[in-house]
Formats: sequence, structure tokens, C-alpha cells
Amino acid sequence: MSKLAAITRAVGPALAHCELTFIEREPIDVARAAEQHDAYCTALRAAGVSVFTLPAAENLLDAVFVEDAAVVLDEIAIVTRPGIDSRRIEVDAVAAVLALHRRTACIEVPGSLEGGDVLRIGRRLFVGRSTRTNDSGLRQLASIVKPLGYDVVQVGVHGCLHLKTAVTALSRDTLLVNPGWIDTEILDGFRHVVVAADEPFAANTLTLDGIVYISAKWNRTRRNLENAGFTTKAMNISELEKAEAGLTCLSIIFRSGDS
Ligand code: GLY
Repeated sequence: MSKLAAITRAVGPALAHCELTFIEREPIDVARAAEQHDAYCTALRAAGVSVFTLPAAENLLDAVFVEDAAVVLDEIAIVTRPGIDSRRIEVDAVAAVLALHRRTACIEVPGSLEGGDVLRIGRRLFVGRSTRTNDSGLRQLASIVKPLGYDVVQVGVHGCLHLKTAVTALSRDTLLVNPGWIDTEILDGFRHVVVAADEPFAANTLTLDGIVYISAKWNRTRRNLENAGFTTKAMNISELEKAEAGLTCLSIIFRSGDS
């Protein structure tokens, strides 16, 4: 029977020196970040997801953000090529696990692509053209998935790290959106719930088993979601957010026949 599985990667000490692009550095309490990561994995398990956690990578700054290392579809896992040097080596450990579950393909030089830029809704992959994902990465992804019946739709991203910093899917027809950071016209066919004006980072949510998980920081956006008819749960990832991350960044979730 098909169930959901997730790959996560434990928090390592180098997280304190993570890459930052659009936010200012604040001290990160790595022990607290590890506790928050543990709680995240526990919540996934409670939602029925089988979680495999890779060991922490001592010297890799952002390895805990496994989402960026791969795009996993039912038919194939695409191992990415992150758009920043320090993150490129992260993909090896993730690819080794994914090879147990899927045939794999890789994004090659000169392409760059990060999983945080890929929002899958049905047979469409909305892909952010960001500082981390380039035209070659987009083209390579499209040529890998087109024969499998997926369309790649490019979305402009301005002022935030990844597409999914600014938009995530609440259901197949409804998105949570920060319209200030992405070109929303391409997403016009969906119903939009908009983040609260003073909570620009609130759009990165994770929906599992009918529950929308949202960072505990974003109370007003959480209220918008509840008013729009969604059941929500807050999760505290405050230390990980200082590393320019959101809830989706911490896992790769996919259907698994053997979990
Ligand atoms: N700190 C997350 C990233 O820059 O990729």
C-alpha cells in the first residue's frame, strides 16, 4: 500500500554559519534548533509519515534544509544542483537514500535548481526563477519530466529566497500567497489566501492529512487560513527561520510503496 515517507537531516553545528540572502544574521541557538527539528519530525510521524533522518553533516551549513536537494515525483527523483557552492555537496547523501525508492536523474552543470523553488500541484510543476534556480536548471527539469506527463511553469521570484517562501498549496485549488514576492498572474486559476501584510514570510506552510501546519510566528495569517475554512496547527521553528527557512525546507515528502 502507498504511504507517505519523508527524508529529513539532523541539525548540525555549522547551521550557525548558514547562508543568508535576503535576511540579516541573528545568532542561532543550534541546540534549540535541533529540538525544534525533532519536534517537526515527531509531527510528521504523528501525521502518519514514515521519517528517515540522515545524520547531521558536520561541515555543511544548510544541510538540514533537505528539500532543496531533490524533487521527488511518483515516477522519478530529480537530484538538484543547488545554486550556491556551499550547498552542492549536500545532494549526495540525499540521492543515496532516494535511489532506494526511485530511479533518479540529475540536474547538470550549468544548471542550478533547488527544491524550494518547485511547487507541485497535480501534473504541474511551478518553478521559481530565483537567485538559486537558473534557466538551464528550469529547462533540464522540464525535459526530464515532460515525457512523464508533467508541465513546468516558470514563476518569477523577487525579494525572497525560493518560490515556496512566497507560495504554498493548501489544497489542489487553493494557494497561500505573498503577492509581493512572486508574479501571481500565472497562478490566476487558483483561489488565493493572502498572508497578513505584516507577516511576509508566512506563506511557507506544509499541508498533511488535511491540516495546514504554519510557523507559530504567524498568528494573523493563521487566522486568515482558519477564516478561509482550513484547519491549522502551529509549529515553532524560530531558530530554523533565522537560517532563512520555512516548514517545507525541512523535509522531502513522497509516496512510498514500502514504508
Ligand atoms: N540558509 C538557507 C539557504 O541559504 O539556502
